[in-house]
Amino acid sequence: MKDAAGDLDAIRTGLCDILKSSPFSGLVPEVAKSDWSQATTKASRVPVCDAFPDVLELCADPVAHPLFARPMAALVDRLGWVADYPSHPVLKDRFGHAVLYASDAAVIGCNLTAAGTAYPAHAHLAKELYLPVTHSGALFWHQRAGEAFRVLPGDLVYHEAEEAHALRTSDRPALNLWLQFGDAPGGATWFVDAPDPWQ
Ligand SMILES: [Fe+2]
Repeated sequence: MKDAAGDLDAIRTGLCDILKSSPFSGLVPEVAKSDWSQATTKASRVPVCDAFPDVLELCADPVAHPLFARPMAALVDRLGWVADYPSHPVLKDRFGHAVLYASDAAVIGCNLTAAGTAYPAHAHLAKELYLPVTHSGALFWHQRAGEAFRVLPGDLVYHEAEEAHALRTSDRPALNLWLQFGDAPGGATWFVDAPDPWQ
């Protein structure tokens, strides 16, 4: 099997390049020194991984992110996928994440939401960035924006600590790179009672 190190390094380096010229440049030293050698040591699948064929197709689309789509496509089925909400009637089958790197300061990984899924408003102590890898057509929402919005591959979507946020996918799955930092990265998430942002 092909060595994953080159693909992981391409993602890590690309992430540093994007963060460098963003308001989150303070994260660059942590990402630059991070050791991703454990990312592919324990591959596992959860129900949302059934979307992999569609994800691979979207990664091959020229509108997918030029730095991340190819290496992510090479890696998706080698990562340790986890279902975040194994008891949730919808999300147990339709949302999951895989960690590429974790420390006390940051968790870096990717998350995948199946097509046609509303991920309801939720929050956590950590600050969070989503970076869409594919052109999913998903709607994003967070409290500061007030209204749902769309993004393109490479756009950074930022969620403040404890800020309610939500996501609704189109007829395509959404694959995002995902970073948490600040307090309790990778810690507990709770659902928030908020007006339905998709109305
Ligand atoms: Fe979040």
